[in-house]
Amino acid sequence: MTSRPTRADFDQYMVPNYSPQKVIPVRGEGSRLWDQDGREYIDFAGGIAVNALGHCHPVLVNALKDQADKLWHLSNVYTNEPALELARELTERTFADKVYLCSSGGEANEAALKLARRWAYNNHGEHKHRIISFGQSFHGRTFFTVSVGGQPKYSQGFGPVPGGIVHAEFNNLDSVRELIDDNTCAVMVEPIQGEGGILPATQEFLSGLRELCDQHDALLVFDEVQTGAGRTGSLYAYMDYGVSPDILTSAKGIGGGFPVGAMLTTDRVAPAMAIGTHGSTYGGNALASAVALAAVRHIDTPEVLEGANRRFDLIREHLEIINRKHGVFKEIRGKGLLVGAEMAPEYEGRAKDILPLAIEEGVMALVAGPNVLRMAPSLVIPEEDIVEGLERLERAIARMVSGQ
Ligand SMILES: Cc1ncc(COP(=O)(O)O)c(C=O)c1O
Repeated sequence: MTSRPTRADFDQYMVPNYSPQKVIPVRGEGSRLWDQDGREYIDFAGGIAVNALGHCHPVLVNALKDQADKLWHLSNVYTNEPALELARELTERTFADKVYLCSSGGEANEAALKLARRWAYNNHGEHKHRIISFGQSFHGRTFFTVSVGGQPKYSQGFGPVPGGIVHAEFNNLDSVRELIDDNTCAVMVEPIQGEGGILPATQEFLSGLRELCDQHDALLVFDEVQTGAGRTGSLYAYMDYGVSPDILTSAKGIGGGFPVGAMLTTDRVAPAMAIGTHGSTYGGNALASAVALAAVRHIDTPEVLEGANRRFDLIREHLEIINRKHGVFKEIRGKGLLVGAEMAPEYEGRAKDILPLAIEEGVMALVAGPNVLRMAPSLVIPEEDIVEGLERLERAIARMVSGQ
């Protein structure tokens, strides 16, 4: 008989690129999780903005089970009904005319960057290959995406990085004006920087990027891997800005916990991804697409989207009450259910100290960089779970403040 796995097995058998918390959750329902010992937790982490409908939502479970009995995988030598339906739904609900399906955010961004380069190469020539992105941005862990991302720690130590990539300052249009020219093929930006600290782009910034891209015939790429799939209270965050990109990437919440990614684009740009230019064995997998289709249909409803905005107000209100008592936060910000609380100067860099204490108190949260406590719970988290989870979080914060 084999023994039950423990956290020590992680250190023994897994490559050491992560440092997971001590507890091992074994069951989830809605916004609650239970660990191996039956201890219960309220989940404000949502699998890093992935479990958009919480754990084991019946709509997703039923979609998965239905499809599991029919067809799982074909490869791209054939197409399949769920993938076609998902692509149709995504185009009908967004600016896009065409969709490329894959299995993660990094892959969606890799596809977006390759598409932008190839589009510029085909339409303008080799010189137009420069990509502009932003300091502190995060676009995934493939070598291209860490190089475009604005956190050099993720791209250093792996040999020469791909060339032709420059970084401007987020929310500073002048810094983009200095870099953009007719050699620029794409500007890639997160409408709200997620890993960088839950920093929303200003309206002026995104509108200005659109204008600059139009002036130089560069493609505007919105990375909505974290902000998409209803996270900010709209199906995609760009909708609230009224600024449409040429390419948009989506993952995380779009699969509700099943690995799915998508790159959306227009009829003007899509032809550059001609037969043979790019691909993935699993992209558009029938099982994944069936779950994503159910997730998109369920999320893109007024009930879920308006609910996310209402819940943001509730979380902010409670965090402000906690802050009046403990003075740990400098600012509470975000949109929908992507919430960031930046630490006050006395607690600079200590956001991650809250996480293990919070787990001990029965609530799971996240950080976004060293200085921001992040919450990305289910879009349909019951309001009583929010209130109870924040009570638990307050106990953890009180312990951090008192050094217990
Ligand atoms: C904005 C953004 N882009 C891309 C990614 C990478 O997605 P994945 O981890 O699914 O490859 C992330 C993940 O945190 C993200 O937040």
